[in-house]
Amino acid sequence: MGLIAIDKDRCRQDGICADVCPAQIIVAGEEDDYPALVPGGEDFCIRCGHCVAVCPHGAIRHGDMPIGDFPEVESGAKPTADQVIQFMRSRRSIRNYKSAPVPRETLTAMIDLARHAPSGHNRQPVRWTVIQDAGDVQRMAGLVADWMQHLIAEKNPTAAALHMDRVVKAWGQGKDRICRQAPHLIVASADKADRTGPAAATIALTYLELAAHALGVGTCWAGYFNMAATMWPPLKAALDLPPEQTPLGTIMAGYARYRYQRLAPRRLPVIRWQ
Ligand SMILES: Cc1cc2nc3c(=O)[nH]c(=O)nc-3n(C[C@H](O)[C@H](O)[C@H](O)COP(=O)(O)O)c2cc1C
Repeated sequence: MGLIAIDKDRCRQDGICADVCPAQIIVAGEEDDYPALVPGGEDFCIRCGHCVAVCPHGAIRHGDMPIGDFPEVESGAKPTADQVIQFMRSRRSIRNYKSAPVPRETLTAMIDLARHAPSGHNRQPVRWTVIQDAGDVQRMAGLVADWMQHLIAEKNPTAAALHMDRVVKAWGQGKDRICRQAPHLIVASADKADRTGPAAATIALTYLELAAHALGVGTCWAGYFNMAATMWPPLKAALDLPPEQTPLGTIMAGYARYRYQRLAPRRLPVIRWQ
């Protein structure tokens, strides 16, 4: 089988597969002809699966992606707009966690949904590191506090801009404003040279937060942690990412101690209609 195979008994030559192909490597069949890959098309296919997923007749197979990986879209499974609004607005940053760990299967399910986030050229560059042990999370939060103390001592403007003195003072009093005593951290990283990495990681982590919300897990971005993870040698050593990877975003995860009763407002959007 080549990269794509057409089942001629099923194909209606409607040209939909060619129309949706983002790389324009499928040419529509005319009259007695069936859709086909342009010469050399293999090199430009981004393995997005659109051609297989969109065909109303199930007439296309992709050589790199087994049909079993394309479950049918369930009609009726789509939530209503009101349900989506409630769901998305009720996701909040959780800063108070129960100490109970989240089962590995649940953390895996969150990451499993996050991998369906869009990425430039469908490169899917995000790699995941899960700090599973709450003691390790606290140890790493301590390294972030050390980093903050270092920045404060050298009068680094970032320390003042991010009120690190208050965070360090709280840490000294046993209050963790760095990882909020979350039982787990999830770090999204990508190859330093991959231009699509930063956007892909941000979107994937946004998917991950929504997946967590659906699964009853609380999350919060760990901005201080991630900043330190990009530059503070002791934390870089503790995190131990492969040398070509850079951390692009970190999220705390655990079961929320409190339940939110109301949605909260945001500033009105600033929109320019042109
Ligand atoms: C990139 C980024 C970094 C963040 N870092 C932190 C952080 O270090 N600690 C924290 O408590 N919240 C952090 N937050 C959470 C924001 O404060 C939060 O998203 C915002 O206040 C809106 O609240 P909500 O997420 O509950 O809707 C971060 C959010 C983002 C997007």
